[in-house]
Amino acid sequence: MNRIEEAEKKLVKYNQTNIVNILNKLKMEQQEILAEDVLNTNFEEILRLYKNKDIKDKNINKIEPIEYIDKNNIDEAQKEELSKMGEQVIKNNQYAVVTMAGGQGTRLGCKGPKGTFKLDIGKSGKYIFEILVDTLKRAKEQYGNEPYWYIMTSIENNEETIRFFEEHNYFGYDKQKVKFFKQDLLPLIDKNGNLMIDNKFHIKKASNGNGGVFRALENSKIIEDMKKKGIKWVYICGVDNIMANMVDTLLLGLAIKYNKKCASKSVKKAYPEEKVGIFCKKNGKPAIIEYIDMTDEMIYAKDSKGELLYGESNIVSHLFNIESLEKIEKYPLKYHGAEKKYSYINEKLQEVVPEENNTYKFEAFIFDAFEHLDDMLILRVNRDEEFAPIKNAKGVDSPETAKKIYENYFKKNN
Ligand code: UD1
Repeated sequence: MNRIEEAEKKLVKYNQTNIVNILNKLKMEQQEILAEDVLNTNFEEILRLYKNKDIKDKNINKIEPIEYIDKNNIDEAQKEELSKMGEQVIKNNQYAVVTMAGGQGTRLGCKGPKGTFKLDIGKSGKYIFEILVDTLKRAKEQYGNEPYWYIMTSIENNEETIRFFEEHNYFGYDKQKVKFFKQDLLPLIDKNGNLMIDNKFHIKKASNGNGGVFRALENSKIIEDMKKKGIKWVYICGVDNIMANMVDTLLLGLAIKYNKKCASKSVKKAYPEEKVGIFCKKNGKPAIIEYIDMTDEMIYAKDSKGELLYGESNIVSHLFNIESLEKIEKYPLKYHGAEKKYSYINEKLQEVVPEENNTYKFEAFIFDAFEHLDDMLILRVNRDEEFAPIKNAKGVDSPETAKKIYENYFKKNN
């Protein structure tokens, strides 16, 4: 049996007759491309996710607020002591930053990798990646060391991201300290349980969510690399917060002092309906609930002081010790499905651009890992110092709002 026949057999086995029909209409070279893709795709996993998509998590029976430490309530002497403990980790070269840049930037409407988006900042503008480099370079000025930097890309944007860094000479960062690694893709599936084909005759796939970071770190042998280098603490954050304080000695000091395997930063929710995940306890374990999964009761609940009961917002700034990363990687990923709009090639080999949501996209969330760690620490930091996300082209969380926060901060702190 040749590869094309083998692929056809696999498609029939998993009831994907629409793709068989497409396969039969393609030219030989196109058939070969599609057949290879079919044979290399895990059909079981995506079909299982599709089948179970309406099953709600029955195990959630108790959601409670979670304790946090407010940075503003730590006195100066204590801050200094804690920061000194953190500083030691940076000085000893035991610290790494992971930037998750495997997402697609669809909401922002940017064509290339999100980090290559240029903001109207300074005289000639600044790229998001360039701003992140500035932050990391400040660590070198302060502690004499620039952290190891691991950048997670996806198959779709890996080459372009590396090319961008090469073309800009890593914005002056020590190239030896930078490594790129790719996260996995997961097939998209339409509302009838059919896989889809893109216009290059591949099975249509998308990044498997930022929770894919743990498996990607392990599969790319990055954890091994980190251990060889003696790295003890790993800070993982998104690419889209230009104010991310990625080398936070206070957070590190707190994690060390209180003997925590994981620590994360929050900001106070700006208003109840803000589209952010919030920290809480789920069945006694630390957790984050995304805004779409919050009930109205949770969104508006207040404590005795009149503050939002669930008001600690996730800014995707998570610190893990290396042992906890290894531990988390061993658990299977939990996927969340969402309905989205994706174009596809139909059986007449025409591209269809749907007007309504037609596809289920499954993503793993990084914070689902917290339930595997019994305990973690949450540090509430100041929004105007650490949170300027770029998600949308216009309005809230856009380049315009981020620029304002960035410029105000540097006006005050320069
Ligand atoms: C995320 C948080 C949300 C938080 C908000 C704050 C998650 C799952 N959600 O929401 O709780 O309040 O930020 O701004 O963390 N990414 C990848 N690969 C992927 C998907 C995403 O690297 O497959 C990266 C993105 O580039 C981004 C980060 O992960 O830097 C978060 O992106 P996204 O999944 O879009 O979550 P948000 O809806 O922005």
